[in-house]
Amino acid sequence: MAQAAELTIIDRPEQRFPLKLAPQIPQIRGLFHASAQNQWDPKTDIDWDLLDISKYSDEQLMGAREYWSRRAWAEYGAISESPALQIRFCQDRLEPDLQLYFTIRSQEESRHAEACYLMAEKLGGYIEEPFVNVYQSSVATHGVRKMALDPNLPLEATIAALVCGAEEIAFDVFKHLVDVATNPVAIQIVKSVMRDEVRHCAFGWAYMEHRIKDMTDAEIKVVEEAVIIMIRDVEMNGYHSAWLAPDNPASAQEVRADRLTYEAGLGATVEEEEIPIFVGTVQRIRQRMQPWGVELPIFTHPKIGDF
Ligand SMILES: [Fe+2]
Ligand SMILES: [Fe+2]
Repeated sequence: MAQAAELTIIDRPEQRFPLKLAPQIPQIRGLFHASAQNQWDPKTDIDWDLLDISKYSDEQLMGAREYWSRRAWAEYGAISESPALQIRFCQDRLEPDLQLYFTIRSQEESRHAEACYLMAEKLGGYIEEPFVNVYQSSVATHGVRKMALDPNLPLEATIAALVCGAEEIAFDVFKHLVDVATNPVAIQIVKSVMRDEVRHCAFGWAYMEHRIKDMTDAEIKVVEEAVIIMIRDVEMNGYHSAWLAPDNPASAQEVRADRLTYEAGLGATVEEEEIPIFVGTVQRIRQRMQPWGVELPIFTHPKIGDF
């Protein structure tokens, strides 16, 4: 009788021993130690007293509550994708550095969610779910959890798309938020999150540099496709930035909240500020992946043109 095909990597028998713990990718082991030494607590390491919401209009506070709640939902996505990748690292018995680092990476994402949640609470109250939920299916998830558990998809495609693509884009926006925000608490949160995210991005590039030389042309083609899908169908569809989403009631509401938050200096950004940032990041990703044999095409978006 033919054996049933494995549906996900969870259907494989687990093989844990012998445990491998010696460093195999020193750069990633270094990130693990750096993370372990740089823990912070959103409750006590942010000077919440400096927030002073009396300076802002009700409308601005409502916009900022919506923006920071949405940021918490996005971080929540990372809390669920991170363990899915961890399972993949364990099931595939990959280098132990990945497993060690991802325990802390998951914890860092939960800390980001907590910081954003607390900010929304202090601005007047965390909002549990989108007011208008019409386009959730297209952009609320980038499919990474499913990708991570799919034995037929090379892990490198998931890491390249999620980390070297999406997290890199998110990081550059954070860097920009430090410049455009004026509220000291908003700036502190963004800077604290960035300090973790710089390691998340470094992980992705280090892993890919470690792996790429042993990959076949066919596998590299799969990496290329995954990165293109992440940029074109996920990011350019509004996954991180509402103004990139097709016009609909949900995106209109989010774009409005972002502008109110941005004008108040409470942390968001807007289309005209973000276009050069987004274009610059995509160009840099394209350049950095070229030596791998990954060719990212010219992308087109109605609000940006060709880039
Ligand atoms: Fe995060
Ligand atoms: Fe992250």
